[in-house]
Amino acid sequence: MVLLTGATGLVGQALLPRLLAEGQQVRCLVRDPRRLGEQRVRVQIALGDLADPPSFRNAMRGVDTVIHLACSTRDQPRGSIEELNGIASWRMVDAAQRAGAKRFVFLSALGASPHHRSRFFRAKALAERAVAESALDTIVLAPSLVYANGDRWMALLRRLSLLPVVPMCGSGRAQVQPIWVEDAAECIVAAMGSAYTQHERFELAGPETLTCARVAHVMLRASGRSRPLLRVPTPLVSRALRLLTRLGSGSLLPTWDEAELAAVTMTSRHGSAHAESLGVSPRPISAVLGVVL
Ligand SMILES: NC(=O)c1ccc[n+]([C@@H]2O[C@H](COP(=O)([O-])OP(=O)(O)OC[C@H]3O[C@@H](n4cnc5c(N)ncnc54)[C@H](OP(=O)(O)O)[C@@H]3O)[C@@H](O)[C@H]2O)c1
Repeated sequence: MVLLTGATGLVGQALLPRLLAEGQQVRCLVRDPRRLGEQRVRVQIALGDLADPPSFRNAMRGVDTVIHLACSTRDQPRGSIEELNGIASWRMVDAAQRAGAKRFVFLSALGASPHHRSRFFRAKALAERAVAESALDTIVLAPSLVYANGDRWMALLRRLSLLPVVPMCGSGRAQVQPIWVEDAAECIVAAMGSAYTQHERFELAGPETLTCARVAHVMLRASGRSRPLLRVPTPLVSRALRLLTRLGSGSLLPTWDEAELAAVTMTSRHGSAHAESLGVSPRPISAVLGVVL
């Protein structure tokens, strides 16, 4: 039995059908089963929340592999970014060990480090450390930007493209190696199927190194709404978004912590080599989104 967290997210939605096609029995830890769509009748459901450790301890019964994808790029009413991504992952590893699971698969993020300027990346580094120090067999996959046609970043850019210029946090010079979500999901399945040492780590990157500004241009073109970008200094974005969050901008606008992610470099010196070692040749973003670079 596999316990999957984050099944309703971008990566989870691409991974779950692959696990089921392989004949795996899957239990999904979810806050709202309706968000699983038609897959909800093909899986066991465990209601749970990263902010509620007893809920995921219960979900571990009879599980041999945990695939932990769930994350939050913003503070939630029941938990901060640090609690939901760092401490909860540490507790998840602990619960898996206590429940007798054999293997823990964790999605980190390229560039996570304890000294990172972003709270999210610091929390991911804490989680990676808990995974690496556990007695379980572990696989950490650290992706660069994962994207899909119409994902939430593209949806945000589409909304912003109603303006004559699209505001962008910082210089736009931060670099990413975008990997298509279907390629990332294929890598996770392949990593689980390959022979591995007790603690394996793969960096998942696409074939191109692009600036965040370039990625935004490509996504805007793919949405049929090319617009010039307006680079806004990060202190200004930070102040404006913190204020709007306090005023209750809801989920329409990113929080400052989310906007900051668009100004963070996420590259691997291995490029797409780790993905290729898993038998996956990641596709260029232009090919996936159908635009000419
Ligand atoms: N997307 C990227 O560019 C990227 C880059 C690097 C690393 N990663 C990593 O890859 C993994 C998957 O990312 P993703 O893009 O698929 O994330 P996502 O689309 O934001 O989905 C997040 C998932 O976590 C769940 N979740 C959020 N808060 C929760 C809570 N309090 N309790 C239980 N579940 C909760 C969400 O469930 P609901 O449906 O209930 O909201 C959703 O299923 C994450 O660990 C992420 O850090 C992603």
